[in-house]
Amino acid sequence: MIIALNNKSNLEKIEFESYIKGLESISTEETIILCPTYLNIGAANSSLKIGSQNVSINENGAYTGEISATQLKSYNVQYAIVGHSERREYQRETNEEINLKIKQLLKNDITPILCIGESLKERESNQVKEVLKEELSIAIKDIKEEDKKKIIVAYEPIWSIGTGIIPTNEQIEEVFAEIKKIVPESKILYGGSANEENIDQLKQIGAIDGYLLGGLSLKLEKLKIFLQKLH
Ligand code: 13P
Repeated sequence: MIIALNNKSNLEKIEFESYIKGLESISTEETIILCPTYLNIGAANSSLKIGSQNVSINENGAYTGEISATQLKSYNVQYAIVGHSERREYQRETNEEINLKIKQLLKNDITPILCIGESLKERESNQVKEVLKEELSIAIKDIKEEDKKKIIVAYEPIWSIGTGIIPTNEQIEEVFAEIKKIVPESKILYGGSANEENIDQLKQIGAIDGYLLGGLSLKLEKLKIFLQKLH
């Protein structure tokens, strides 16, 4: 399974040094993808697979504060999260920008981990399918079929992120079936409050190819239990 660890905006220099040692000492057969902050990518120097949490829509040039896909590549970054709901909300990131980011990544052989997910309001007003379809179809617009299948999709319902609440298995299965209609060959992850307790429930879902973990990525003892319980 793919286990992507989204550190979000956490772990300072010294904390990260001991964190990465602890993470590397966990023995597992899963594909672990560590997505630290940009600064910690520079400090990672690790045998682990590394992902970024974002990428610029542009190539190298006069774009102050941005990090390009070619720069990520030069730091051996193999994956990049794009379209996380926190960036959609706080940075006002649009589906069109996410599409440009995915194109930059694919051009540089970096695997995009595309996050999509509905808000509670959208779920309560029965708009889940429309919202996800729009997010997904604009994100992959004008991308060649052979490239589409390289994209990993992460379904992260916004109301589940950091809340301790997860959808029912039926709700997840329903969404995964919709995603498969658009990108049948893509791997699909679940993200949102996944932890060492609710994994017993989540692992009943056969369609899940892995998990995108936020809070749990920072708690290595609990992460270890999560990994042990996966199968
Ligand atoms: P939590 O696991 O903390 O809910 O975060 C999920 C997430 O946003 C991962 O990208």
